[in-house]
Amino acid sequence: MGNIPLAQVFLNDEIRQAVAGVIESGQYILGRECRAFEEELSAYTGTRHTVLSSSWTASMLLLLQSMELKPGDEVIVPSHTAFPTVEPIIHAGAKPVFVDVDETYCLDPRLLEAAVGPRTIGIMPVHLYGQPADLDGIQAVAQRHGLWVIEDCAQAQGAAHRGRKVGSVGLAGGFSFYPSKNLTVLGDGGCICTDDDGLAEAVRMLRNHGRKSKFTHEKVGYNLRFNEIQAAAGRVALRYLDELNAHRREVAARYRARLQGLVDLPVERPWAEPVYHMHVIRTPRRDALADHLKAQGIASGIHYPVANHQQPAITALYPDLPALPNTEAWVDQILSLPIHGQMALEDVDRVCDAIESFLG
Ligand SMILES: Cc1ncc(COP(=O)(O)O)c(C=O)c1O
Repeated sequence: MGNIPLAQVFLNDEIRQAVAGVIESGQYILGRECRAFEEELSAYTGTRHTVLSSSWTASMLLLLQSMELKPGDEVIVPSHTAFPTVEPIIHAGAKPVFVDVDETYCLDPRLLEAAVGPRTIGIMPVHLYGQPADLDGIQAVAQRHGLWVIEDCAQAQGAAHRGRKVGSVGLAGGFSFYPSKNLTVLGDGGCICTDDDGLAEAVRMLRNHGRKSKFTHEKVGYNLRFNEIQAAAGRVALRYLDELNAHRREVAARYRARLQGLVDLPVERPWAEPVYHMHVIRTPRRDALADHLKAQGIASGIHYPVANHQQPAITALYPDLPALPNTEAWVDQILSLPIHGQMALEDVDRVCDAIESFLG
């Protein structure tokens, strides 16, 4: 019996051929493949614009920087997320205000009102593990207070909220193509999707040295461009995304059927179409269970073991942050089980057998 990995990158001969084609083309940066990938991503997400960049972090940095935040501005964000979610907020000059999550592991909209203050300018919900956050509840608070909503969709490419793809509901959405993600490009990569013409143009300019045209630099920007080889790979992978996401849901359904009553399972809202970037369960015997799985050649992960409001980089900047009870309790209990778009259902059963033999 082979080992069962936590995740697996999608790769096929079409991708290999597409990459080989670009190698021969002689054009490697922001060319035809990038333009086509941007158009196809916009059509898929349902936004007017997509701007590719070298990662989610880069894309979000460019976006927030183009919005010219002021020192002391506050952005509401969950603490229970990947650390990068917080970085562009701080780099852009704002302060993250951490709010707890509900049982979906996404921002709890019931806690937002109390977190809004006179300096709050926006909310950044995270569609964590591929579960859409409660965008209705979040937008309602945002609209009441005149705040923007920018969605962290890094883990949720293809997920939908009331039938609308995540990333198309707020002012903008940011996506990641990091190799473990649902849509991958053989390396780092990311993009923002938005309907806002001005923002898209500003991000496009900043990612390429603030260029308005070849020799006119209207802003002081960066080199955070995207590559043709990766765009060609991503275009093929995008055509398979729905199929791979549907398979992830099938894997999740199998886990649900087998593990009900043994562990706390992911909570699905009726309005949500999740894409199970990760399949996260909760058990007080988390560490022992992870060791048991490892002994049987089954990988697992913890996303994330340290909450961001307790990370040294954050407490050094903002001492005395308030406690977040769910986040702090759950970081010790969560365990990510193997899942990917091509996982054999027999392997899902092997994981379930191992969990059952340990907790059953
Ligand atoms: C929720 C979330 N936000 C942001 C990021 C950052 O993405 P990238 O690695 O493309 O910068 C990640 C990936 O680690 C993520 O999972």
